[in-house]
Amino acid sequence: MGATSPLKGQSQSHSLTKKFLPYALYALLSIALFRLYFHPFPLPQSTTEQLPHNNRIILTTSSSSPPISFSEEEEVDNETTCDYTNGRWVHDKMGPLYNGTTCGTIKDGQNCILHGRPDLGYLYWKWQPSQCKLPRFDPNTFFHLLSNKHLAFVGDSMARNQLESLLCMLATASNPNLVYRDGEDNKFRRWHFASHNITISVYWSPFLVRGVEKSKTGPDHNELFADSVDERWGADLDHIDLIVLSIGHWFLHPAVYYEGGSVLGCHYCPGLNYTEIGFYDVMRKAIKTALKTIIEKKGANGNRIDVFLTTFSPSHFDGEWDKAGACPKTKPYKEGEKMLEGMDADMRAIEVEEMGAAKANAKQFEGMRLEILDVTKLSLMRPDGHPGPYMYPFPFANGVRERVQNDCVHWCLPGTIDTWNQILLEVIRRWSFQSRREE
Ligand SMILES: *[C@@H]1O[C@H](CO)[C@@H](O)[C@H](O)[C@H]1NC(C)=O
Ligand SMILES: *[C@@H]1O[C@H](CO)[C@@H](O)[C@H](O)[C@H]1NC(C)=O
Ligand SMILES: *[C@@H]1O[C@H](CO)[C@@H](O)[C@H](O)[C@H]1NC(C)=O
Ligand SMILES: *[C@@H]1O[C@H](CO)[C@@H](O)[C@H](O)[C@H]1NC(C)=O
Repeated sequence: MGATSPLKGQSQSHSLTKKFLPYALYALLSIALFRLYFHPFPLPQSTTEQLPHNNRIILTTSSSSPPISFSEEEEVDNETTCDYTNGRWVHDKMGPLYNGTTCGTIKDGQNCILHGRPDLGYLYWKWQPSQCKLPRFDPNTFFHLLSNKHLAFVGDSMARNQLESLLCMLATASNPNLVYRDGEDNKFRRWHFASHNITISVYWSPFLVRGVEKSKTGPDHNELFADSVDERWGADLDHIDLIVLSIGHWFLHPAVYYEGGSVLGCHYCPGLNYTEIGFYDVMRKAIKTALKTIIEKKGANGNRIDVFLTTFSPSHFDGEWDKAGACPKTKPYKEGEKMLEGMDADMRAIEVEEMGAAKANAKQFEGMRLEILDVTKLSLMRPDGHPGPYMYPFPFANGVRERVQNDCVHWCLPGTIDTWNQILLEVIRRWSFQSRREE
């Protein structure tokens, strides 16, 4: 692994200036966008009732689930793996499983139809991998395969975006009960599907490792501790059976990095007299620390876990972020029209490499399953999938304005990101097929 990394050679062949210039640009852009994307709405006063700070889930009698026949499943592709990376978007008459009114968990800024997005063509595409078929998401397959399990999404607002997509698809078949909520803006939540005793939770942890986020009262930049995981999720690992990690965009922001108790360097910290080291190496360290901790903590206790790492989700700013047409496309790119390159490719490569290293590390223990959820390329092809100006309700109700904020980072729900969960479920389904075959 790594032989084809686009990172290799780059650091050697580029001069230092060249290497760090992009970091400064990303930082400037990200300072401008920081509040917009990560706190786009005034933070709610804590009017929402806080559910008890309690991880235990009290089970009411769970109605037994109908037995699922696998005969149907065996007619489809029964290979154990498929490369979902390469493929193309093809028209799909069927459209999404859910809509923004049937699912109560969609973050306002991503509920595009409710906010008046007029074009709906972006809902009628499906990802067709070159190697295999990707079946439509079937909530009952998910319930069957994950019954009595706890699935946790850990990461930044992309993790949340993916989690909400999954919940909306599952809610078409069974009602999730919100059993826990904590943190401003719903950063920590947990649901329980009583019908199958499935717990799904989301943990806000934009660096995976311990960090202090830039705030009005705290530091003016992020602080990251590259060698210890964020205990908000780390402490709960014993109760997690499947974990999906998803990070990336927060690493672009100005930050000071610590390791082993001393300063490792910083990213875009003028005036602080620390060495600029960019963010790639620190993101790599954070992923390494997270994967190593998950594997070794579970393994040491003789427990198993399934681990996914969702790869970097590209943004699509064609124009200026505060002009109406920031991501105006209403159709996917055609094959070959858009190449995976630059930062998107570099971020993904780090994730693919670190997952490869973690898989090797996990071999010392029984039953660990790790997979990259490689969504970078397929998402790159979907400039039409973002909320754009519809991050706010009816942005053009009073005529087209000169300046309007756009979200070309997150994904409309329903939409492109539903495909990520379609792949997630398909990988789990193939794992289960494989283990039944090995029995
Ligand atoms: C996969 O399915 C085909 C037919 O559906 C069958 O002939 C083949 O033996 C199966 N392969 C495995 C490994 O089970
Ligand atoms: C959303 O889905 C529900 C249930 O399928 C349906 O009754 C409703 O009309 C849909 N709403 C819209 C706006 O499509
Ligand atoms: C419900 O699921 C949890 C894991 O999330 C498990 O610990 C517990 O034993 C399950 N309960 C039953 C009754 O199977
Ligand atoms: C910046 O750091 C260097 C090396 O640690 C030190 O020699 C220098 O005095 C520092 N400059 C300021 C302004 O603190």
